[in-house]
Amino acid sequence: MNQSTQLVNLASRLPKTELHLHIEGSLEPDMVMQMARRNRVELPFSSTEQLKALYDFKDLQSFLDLYYLATNVLQTEQDFFDLTWAYLERCRDQNIVHTEIFFDPQSHTSRGIPFKVVVDGIHGALSRAQTELNISSRLILCFLRHLSPDDALVTWEQAEPSLEYIDGVGLDSAERDFPPSLFTGVFELARKAGLRTVAHAGEEGPADYIRQAVELLQVSRIDHGVRITEDPSLLAQVARDQIPLTVCPLSNTRLCVYDSMNDHPILELLDKGLLVTVNSDDPAYFGGYVNQNYAAVIEALAPTQEQVVTLVRNGFTASFLDEATKARWTRKLDDFSAQ
Ligand code: HPA
Ligand code: ZN
Repeated sequence: MNQSTQLVNLASRLPKTELHLHIEGSLEPDMVMQMARRNRVELPFSSTEQLKALYDFKDLQSFLDLYYLATNVLQTEQDFFDLTWAYLERCRDQNIVHTEIFFDPQSHTSRGIPFKVVVDGIHGALSRAQTELNISSRLILCFLRHLSPDDALVTWEQAEPSLEYIDGVGLDSAERDFPPSLFTGVFELARKAGLRTVAHAGEEGPADYIRQAVELLQVSRIDHGVRITEDPSLLAQVARDQIPLTVCPLSNTRLCVYDSMNDHPILELLDKGLLVTVNSDDPAYFGGYVNQNYAAVIEALAPTQEQVVTLVRNGFTASFLDEATKARWTRKLDDFSAQ
């Protein structure tokens, strides 16, 4: 077996985390068609094949247009449960033992679906996964940055009765021209309520948005963050403070942030001392779940075994698990990789 195949096998066997996953982005094409039939939702395509033919994106916005369109099939609490459960079964199959998932309530409440329907469906699956699949989780509410800060505040009010199920808030959707600074108010409310904060920054937007997310939103992690390469002094600061980056390699190539995986800076970021993790973002759209992301990185960039294990270990370090649980998993990882 060559070195690359061996490392792909190792990465797939290791217990892992996922820290950057939009649950709506795990809506597989078959499930889109099945839920459209079940809920009598009209779509501008009539088969899985026709839908898959549209998965050819030129940038973030071209993906988001299809992502929000497909989201319309999600209507009932059962739909949100089924979507989340299907993702958690993938986690089980890929040895993901802890996952922190995003959801986009505004893409549902704007269609008249109550916040509670969305959160109860997702939470129901997460709590069943803890008992039946031994998968732990956290849930992160993402505000859509292409909508107004006032809309985010209304969403925060809708979330308040369900805060026992929500561990953090994040910021996603179209990044360019929607800087983190717009959302300082709602992020402050979330922090005051004891929630963690994260934000997408430096995916398509400039490195300055990463700085704003750190300084103004006081985030615990940056989602994507790859454009930090453009600001060496910010990079040094984020490395010093060990603010994690949740990197999504297949997403970055599918959305043309990089022309090819050979150009992806993930190993360079790791070598510069950043706490980098590997995640799938929207696995139904970008060609795979976490193991496929490791495989793509290993095949294109030929990391060492130590680098692969560090990426996996960073996932636990960067998670919102308590320190004792993190230590238990990282000890297990050491045992695994010594075998
Ligand atoms: N970036 C921003 N918003 C998103 C993404 C992403 O990769 N996926 C789903 N919403
Ligand atoms: Zn994302």
